[in-house]
Amino acid sequence: MNAIAIYPGSFDPVTNGHLDLIERGVRLFGHLIVAVARNIEKTTLFTTQERIELVREAVSRRTDVTVESFEGLLVDYARARGATVVMRGLRALSDFEYEYEMAMMNRRLHPDLETLFMMTSESNFFVSSRRVKEVMRFGGDVSTLVPPLVRSRLADKLGRST
Ligand code: PNS
Repeated sequence: MNAIAIYPGSFDPVTNGHLDLIERGVRLFGHLIVAVARNIEKTTLFTTQERIELVREAVSRRTDVTVESFEGLLVDYARARGATVVMRGLRALSDFEYEYEMAMMNRRLHPDLETLFMMTSESNFFVSSRRVKEVMRFGGDVSTLVPPLVRSRLADKLGRST
């Protein structure tokens, strides 16, 4: 597909679920801009710089992915980048309401920007940054959920050994 596509998110931190979607997005669009949100309402475990670094590291071998950060409204960032597609992952039904509201708000603000929902592989269906942090916080094994560097950074942050 010949469109500039953005995959935005908090990426706090990037998980194998995100990486799965990035792979799928690249297959569809040839190139993908991963946009790490700077000003998000929720408190993050990792700083913006750390969140960007971890995504960059996770896709460092790819030439078809650009990692950037953005501030303010996603629609303004999309306009500035000339993007016409926003890609978001959909896991369980519980994601739907939040994603639907966001997509509708973005459409109201920028009618030409299309939100495209993609599904992760079954093995990543239940993987979320929030769950990964929770598992790590209580000493669980996250090695199948995140890349190795994220695992060790999580361990450092949360005072756990890997
Ligand atoms: O990974 P997340 O936390 O679900 O990502 C949410 C994100 C960052 C994509 C969303 O909060 C966002 O686009 N924030 C930027 C501000 C904005 O445009 N808000 C209006 C959309 S309703």
